[in-house]
Amino acid sequence: MREPHLILGLGELLWDVLPDGPRLGGAPANFTVMAARLGSHAVLLSRVGRDDLGRMALERLRPMPADTSFIETDHAHETGRVTVYFEAGQPHYTIHHPAAWDFLELTDEWMRLAERADALCFGSLAQRSQESRQTIQTMAAQASSRCIRVFDVNLRTPFYSGEVIQESLELASVVKMNDAEVPRVLGLLGLPAGDAEMWSSDEFSQERRTYEQQSAERVLNEFPTLEMVAITRGGHGSLLVRRDEWHEHPGYPVKVADTIGAGDAFTAALTHYLLRGAGLATLNEAGNRWGGWVASQAGAMPELSDDLRKEIETKIEA
Ligand SMILES: Nc1ncnc2c1ncn2[C@@H]1O[C@H](COP(=O)(O)OP(=O)(O)O)[C@@H](O)[C@H]1O
Ligand SMILES: [Mg+2]
Repeated sequence: MREPHLILGLGELLWDVLPDGPRLGGAPANFTVMAARLGSHAVLLSRVGRDDLGRMALERLRPMPADTSFIETDHAHETGRVTVYFEAGQPHYTIHHPAAWDFLELTDEWMRLAERADALCFGSLAQRSQESRQTIQTMAAQASSRCIRVFDVNLRTPFYSGEVIQESLELASVVKMNDAEVPRVLGLLGLPAGDAEMWSSDEFSQERRTYEQQSAERVLNEFPTLEMVAITRGGHGSLLVRRDEWHEHPGYPVKVADTIGAGDAFTAALTHYLLRGAGLATLNEAGNRWGGWVASQAGAMPELSDDLRKEIETKIEA
């Protein structure tokens, strides 16, 4: 057995308050739990309030394999909540603020973790506040040079800006976005963005593929320390682009329970296998196997048996 890699998930831990009850989430939390389920030592770095929702969050996480021992408690701000309501079948979100996770504090303990980490993953939402933005960016900047810095953009309206995207990409070695985020990110960077409405989402065309490859190359050209762009396409799989190679995967058709957290699971698998030195084909295989599996399950951090995990692992490594 090799020593598990140390992966940090940095940012929001919150409750999605749905009509049928609260569900624990936050992209970094989903990412961290799924990275831990893959066998990495995955540490969630977030902050909860001194309240029932905070205690419930820690209790919910306790049986899960993610390391929650570094989560901070805020004495003045409430545990994060997102109210979700449906209008004509479409979900609408209110991301309450300020929340405890807006006050991520860079302690010596967190700093030492950043220095030891093999990989670190962050997004744009937790950077809506000055405090958390500072903490996230300092950790990414101070991590060792061998640390893989994954920026999973996860744009959440209205909590993002061109500035945060720019600064994050300057710090990142890998960026993950979904196909709808591609034109928005390029537009925010002032790069030729194309039009998000160019294709209907259930179609996949050569034109769209060319657009995504060109977009990935533009981003790589703009940020010299960036090594890889990962673009996920929901049920159509994903595209991975490096400076000298690219690889595309059609995804796995699954019976969808809900797709919440599919992207976070993709990023978790991508990060876990990158640390094991996998090439693009294996990375795509891993991302789509895990993303597809999470889409086939209810919730964003579903548990899986050892047997199923081994079965998926065998297919990825085949
Ligand atoms: N409907 C689906 N059917 C099969 N796999 C899916 C589906 N939706 C998502 N996935 C898997 O999850 C990955 C990430 O999903 P995507 O929706 O692109 O990301 P995000 O959740 O960040 O928006 C996809 O690349 C794919 O492997
Ligand atoms: Mg996403």
